[in-house]
Amino acid sequence: MKAVVVSEAGGPEVLRYCDVPTPVARPGWSLIKVRGAGVNHSEIFTREGKSPSVAFPRILGIECVGQVEQTLNPDLHVGQTVVSIMGEMGRDFDGGYAQYALLPDERIHPVATSLPWESLAAVPETFYTAFGSLERLRLGDGQDVLVRGATSGVGIAFSKLVRALYPSCSITGSTRSADKGERLLNAGFDRYVVDDRNALRTKASFDAILDLIGPAAAKDTFAHIAPGGTVCITGLLGGQWTLEGFDPIMDTNGGYLAGFYSGDVEGESLQRLVAMIEDRRIDVRPERAFPLSQMRQAHAYLASRDSFGKVVAIPEFDE
Ligand SMILES: NC(=O)c1ccc[n+]([C@@H]2O[C@H](COP(=O)([O-])OP(=O)(O)OC[C@H]3O[C@@H](n4cnc5c(N)ncnc54)[C@H](OP(=O)(O)O)[C@@H]3O)[C@@H](O)[C@H]2O)c1
Repeated sequence: MKAVVVSEAGGPEVLRYCDVPTPVARPGWSLIKVRGAGVNHSEIFTREGKSPSVAFPRILGIECVGQVEQTLNPDLHVGQTVVSIMGEMGRDFDGGYAQYALLPDERIHPVATSLPWESLAAVPETFYTAFGSLERLRLGDGQDVLVRGATSGVGIAFSKLVRALYPSCSITGSTRSADKGERLLNAGFDRYVVDDRNALRTKASFDAILDLIGPAAAKDTFAHIAPGGTVCITGLLGGQWTLEGFDPIMDTNGGYLAGFYSGDVEGESLQRLVAMIEDRRIDVRPERAFPLSQMRQAHAYLASRDSFGKVVAIPEFDE
């Protein structure tokens, strides 16, 4: 099969599209024909060697969608549409950047859906994370919401969910590049603010903030929370993992801190999420879809100043 293998840490050039043996199903592990794989910021970290537990060579990819190809599990059947995310996929064992992925049965979640593959591929990690963060923020009608790191895949997904579920809320998005502001407005944001080296260029405060920049910007984020508002820190785009020099008594500024982690995914929640997306006709199409053979370009794009919204990879088959 074709796969994208990383043999050593480095830039996008270490992503090698090559032939590798196709794995075979064994007890507890089923083979999935990958129809689409989300491309995520965390895979850039892993490629760069910043995921200390990962040993190379490794096929990256923390999520995929596809069909059961081979299984010994009576609860699954060949051809079934499935989704898989996390559980150390693409880290402890080979992941979704391949035509086929051998995955633990407990991480394979059947879903009933009529979404096209490209759209379904944009959903698992990104919309699950956006939805989980939205629940943590406990939004009310008419609130002012800020997404910090709004042009990311999770940021755009979150804004689509807020638009669909809380149409009376106003949504502001932050970006480091003023020239991406117009794209945020076109994507459904009411306003945008520029994030200048982790300082928002606004005096406005917000009832709820989804912070995808993380600890590097947290102090400034809390400076923009309205009294009693909630900040949900879900991302680490600022490259800092933990809070340093943060005084919880003074720096929380009358707000509440929440976090979200997408690691413990339940199949039922994924099915509910996909059903909600279809019922409410939420547009989950990715911004960009790259063929699997172009993962170097996909990673370079995601890490570039131009990147916007969700990126997916689509394996090609001779069918
Ligand atoms: N908690 C969880 O379980 C969970 C699950 C999924 C994702 N995440 C995290 O959520 C975040 C978003 O993930 P994603 O895959 O959606 O990201 P992504 O699409 O790769 O994000 C790309 C955007 O990040 C911004 N960015 C890049 N480097 C930055 C930097 N040094 N400082 C500030 N902004 C920067 C850029 O925005 P501008 O150029 O417009 O500023 C760019 O458009 C990541 O930190 C990811 O690890 C967490």
